[in-house]
Amino acid sequence: MVILLLGGGGREHALAASIAESPLCDRLIVAPGNAGIAMLAECRPLAITDPSAVVALARELDAGLVVVGPEAPLAEGVADTLSTAGIPVFGPSRAAAALEASKSFTKEVCDACAAPTAGWARFDAAATARAHIEAAGAPIVVKADGLAAGKGVTVAMTVDDALAAVDALMAEPGAEVVIEEFMTGEEASLFVLADGEVAIPLASAQDHKRAFDGDEGPNTGGMGAYSPAPVLDAVVETRAMETIVRPVLAEMARRGTPFRGLLYAGLMIEGGNPRLVEFNVRFGDPEAQVVLPRLRSDIVPLMMAAGEGRLAETALGWTEAVALTVVLAARGYPGGYAKGEAIGGLAAAAAVEGVRIFHAGTARGTVSGTAAGTGAGEGDILSAGGRVLAVTALGRDLVEARARAYRAVDLIDWPGGFCRRDIGWRALPADADSTGR
Ligand code: AMP
Ligand code: GLY
Repeated sequence: MVILLLGGGGREHALAASIAESPLCDRLIVAPGNAGIAMLAECRPLAITDPSAVVALARELDAGLVVVGPEAPLAEGVADTLSTAGIPVFGPSRAAAALEASKSFTKEVCDACAAPTAGWARFDAAATARAHIEAAGAPIVVKADGLAAGKGVTVAMTVDDALAAVDALMAEPGAEVVIEEFMTGEEASLFVLADGEVAIPLASAQDHKRAFDGDEGPNTGGMGAYSPAPVLDAVVETRAMETIVRPVLAEMARRGTPFRGLLYAGLMIEGGNPRLVEFNVRFGDPEAQVVLPRLRSDIVPLMMAAGEGRLAETALGWTEAVALTVVLAARGYPGGYAKGEAIGGLAAAAAVEGVRIFHAGTARGTVSGTAAGTGAGEGDILSAGGRVLAVTALGRDLVEARARAYRAVDLIDWPGGFCRRDIGWRALPADADSTGR
């Protein structure tokens, strides 16, 4: 079968690696892909948020399955257009993707099925939003009611910060804000495969969203992750499935918009009780880079079954190993950063036991006017984005996985890059070597 995968980040490199291992996959095309993905699949340029362009390429390739990596094409209805064209797709419809695209829609669905989440209210005028904040007090959470790629959320510790966030968001014409109760606890994510009716929990993970060690600095897409998440044990997982995931999926089906694909439930866990922070309608990045390397089952039949309502017939196998990934980002990320810098040492890093390197923002090229690009035949991997590499290691436990990941990171030669040195700290014993060195 020909499989077309949409996206070009570290998540898609991890998806491509799993899909390419399937005996069902004869040819894998990734659009647009990146320099790492190009080592195991064909890459094609494509406007992936344009449904008709996606269908045209899928038809040209005679694709038997299209896998959608990021949320933006789903919110644009790419899965609907593919389904209408009779092309199997892994990823929810536009209506079901509203579970990520609209905060207030998700809150309404949670309320309709009594799924535990933070109390909330929606406002379309700054004055009423401000009055609500002044009455409720801080801490309080202010969110833009739309897809904001991780931005647009302010966890305000003071009333003034919350009011400033409202003013900034409401400066946009037609903007709406959701104001939420501040929840305390520990965050972790549960990844679930759903076919519209049946839901199978895949695995748990925790990521590190802040840019710097000690969970300091600005929010990012994620600087590292590990799986499983110790805080999301079997009891908490069962509670999350029974009180949040299954009721929400049943409510979506009842509304005539069943969810088929990968549901990412971001949870706040306190005293063993999970509450929903947010849903995403696709794998996490970098969580996919720790969840997928642990999956022993062939992912392609699972994706097909999710699309066809046959998940009840499937079974999952996992390795005993745990996984941890460290993201290497360009200095300055998530603000401005340089591109086009040569990255060396990748072959040596990938040779460390248990290590797999997933590319995110990388491209092939040569750095003119420097000696870079001449080393070991790999110098032509260049940085081309904010998050550039995810260095994943499997190990018997997190201590081993982390030591391996940082050993590999330290072999990568990229002076313009940085990473956090404390990935996994919440889950590791206090006396574990915090540098991994
Ligand atoms: P979101 O985009 O909704 O996931 O929010 C981004 C981050 O803000 C989450 O990962 C949490 O760390 C934090 N956050 C969001 N909503 C809340 C809440 N109601 N209470 C506490 N923290 C929150
Ligand atoms: N790492 C968080 C996300 O993918 O949304």
